[in-house]
Amino acid sequence: MTDEAPVKIGSWTFYILRCSDGSFYAGITNDLDRRLNQHRDGRASRYTRSRRPVSIIYRESCESRSHALKRECAVKALSRKEKEKLTEGSMKKFSRGVDLANVFKRHHRMFGLLILTAALIVTGFTGEGFAKGKTKESPDHLQAKRISHGEYLVNTSGCHDCHTPWIMKPNGPGPDMSRMLSGHPESLVMPPPLKLEAPWVWMAAGSNTAFAGPWGISYTKNLTPDPTGLGGWTEKEFIAAIRTGKARGTGRLIMPPMPIQDYRSFTDEDLKSIFAYLQTIPPIKNTPPSYQSPPAP
Ligand code: HEC
Repeated sequence: MTDEAPVKIGSWTFYILRCSDGSFYAGITNDLDRRLNQHRDGRASRYTRSRRPVSIIYRESCESRSHALKRECAVKALSRKEKEKLTEGSMKKFSRGVDLANVFKRHHRMFGLLILTAALIVTGFTGEGFAKGKTKESPDHLQAKRISHGEYLVNTSGCHDCHTPWIMKPNGPGPDMSRMLSGHPESLVMPPPLKLEAPWVWMAAGSNTAFAGPWGISYTKNLTPDPTGLGGWTEKEFIAAIRTGKARGTGRLIMPPMPIQDYRSFTDEDLKSIFAYLQTIPPIKNTPPSYQSPPAP
């Protein structure tokens, strides 16, 4: 990770620099001009400081910080040859002031076909990829795959339903993505729950982050990488919590409506992926209240 600045959606850039010794440096930023100046002044990274002057040879606009990180991981996993290929075309375009990412966006179908054809020709000629079988994945490449699989699982397994606070939107309630996965807002202090009559047995806050029922009152946790969230967690602790259904550091059961019974069936690879992705989302400082057990009858 290269930047810790707060996220402004749509303004992230993945970039590659050529250093004075010919080596490449890849990074992400949400302010390319400022970052380039820092690299030029030797304030951005130890690596580029000792390899100045640096020049930018590639850049791509990304829709989010995690998208930019994914591109960084994926490109870092490429061989030197592949990196050269990626930056070659862009350098010419770049000097004419054309944003390569936009060119790709506009002509992605044609590029897709061209790349596919080229790939088929190359593999056909060398027999590589067909004859040799699977090559071992580099750690960076594996991590990039995990992050994108984790994002997919988080988005399809309902984590936002409870861990992202809901607000009223023009078409009805929905998760407020500016507070993505930050758990029950600490500013939302809940009054005591109402007494319900069976068969009504539990209730939820409109934010869908606080729940009262026979199990007591539970509040969703902050899943962002902030220290008030999963910042201090290890991958092992995360997997253990979901597998055993026991809250980290307390040993008590994780309470409803967290669907532990369903999430136990995630494979280790799934859980590693979810954890990897959660570590790349924007950190948000928010400490949800602690769980309250039901009053003694
Ligand atoms: C239906 C609501 C709901 C959904 C869906 C949900 N959670 Fe939760 N989650 C909760 C609640 C409530 C708690 C707090 C439970 C408690 O305090 O015992 C919680 C707690 C947690 C914890 C903290 C466990 C600990 O050790 O303290 C983690 C981690 C977590 N959820 C991850 C996830 C992930 C990842 C997803 C999506 C794959 C998800 N949750 C989906 C409601 C939900």
